[in-house]
Amino acid sequence: MEKNDIKISKSFYANNLIKIKEPLFIFRNISKSFFGKELFEDVSMSMSDGERIAIVGANGTGKSTILKIIIGLEDPDQGSVERNRELKIGYLPQETHWDSLQNTILQEVRSDDSETQRRITYLLEDFGFSEKSWKRKISSLSGGEKTKLALLKLLTLNPNLLILDEPTNHLDLPSKEIINNFFKEFSGTVILISHDRHILNNVCNIIWEVKGGTLNEYLGNYDDYRRSIAK
Ligand SMILES: Nc1ncnc2c1ncn2[C@@H]1O[C@H](COP(=O)(O)OP(=O)(O)O)[C@@H](O)[C@H]1O
Ligand SMILES: [Mg+2]
Repeated sequence: MEKNDIKISKSFYANNLIKIKEPLFIFRNISKSFFGKELFEDVSMSMSDGERIAIVGANGTGKSTILKIIIGLEDPDQGSVERNRELKIGYLPQETHWDSLQNTILQEVRSDDSETQRRITYLLEDFGFSEKSWKRKISSLSGGEKTKLALLKLLTLNPNLLILDEPTNHLDLPSKEIINNFFKEFSGTVILISHDRHILNNVCNIIWEVKGGTLNEYLGNYDDYRRSIAK
C-alpha cells in the first residue's frame, strides 16, 4: 500500500459522543517522589471532556508517572485525585502487554456491540490488517503491529478518555503515518506522551509541561508551546 493511500475511516466516535460536563479528573495538590527523588510537588490540575492534552518534558521527569496516577496505578504521596464516575479510560502503556500470545488478531478486537464491531472492522483495514491476516496470532506480529492492534483493542472498549504513552516510539514510518491519520479523524478526548512533533501538533490542543517539579499548562498545539517557551 502506498503511503498516500492510507485513509482512516471517518469519525470513529461520531454517534457515541456523550458530553460529560464535570471534569474527567481533578488533581488536588498532589506530590510524588521515588526514593527521595521528588518528581513534582503541590500540583493542582484538571481535565475536561473534549480536551486533548500532550504531556511533555525531559526523560525521567515523571510523565509516565502522571498517567499512572490518573489511572490509579500509582498513588500520589500527598494530595488526592478525584475521578469522574463516568470516566472510562483506555490506556496504552509504553510496553504493550498480552494475556495470550496465541490469540488471533480477530479474537483481540471482538466487541459484543455490533456497531463497535463494524467500526473496528473498518479500522483493522485502515491499520493495515487485511482480512487475510485476521487469523494471525499475536506471537507472529511485529512490535509496530502489536502497538496498532493494542490501540484498536482499546477502542473496542469505547473509552471516553484515551491515554497513550509514547505510542509511535518503536513504529516504522508507514505505521506512524497510520496512527497520525487515525488521530486526524478521531474526535475523542486524549492524553498523549510523545516526542514526535507531528503527532503532537496533530492531536493536542493543550500542553502540560513537566519541569522543575511542577506542571505548567499551555493552551495551543506543540508548535505554539515551543514559541511560548522561546520568548
Ligand atoms: N515504580 C517506581 N519505583 C521507583 N522509581 C520509579 C518508579 N516509576 C518511576 N520511577 C522513577 O521516577 C522517574 C520518573 O519516571 P517516569 O514517570 O517513567 O518518567 P518519564 O515518563 O518522564 O520518562 C524516573 O527516575 C524513574 O526511574
Ligand atoms: Mg515515560
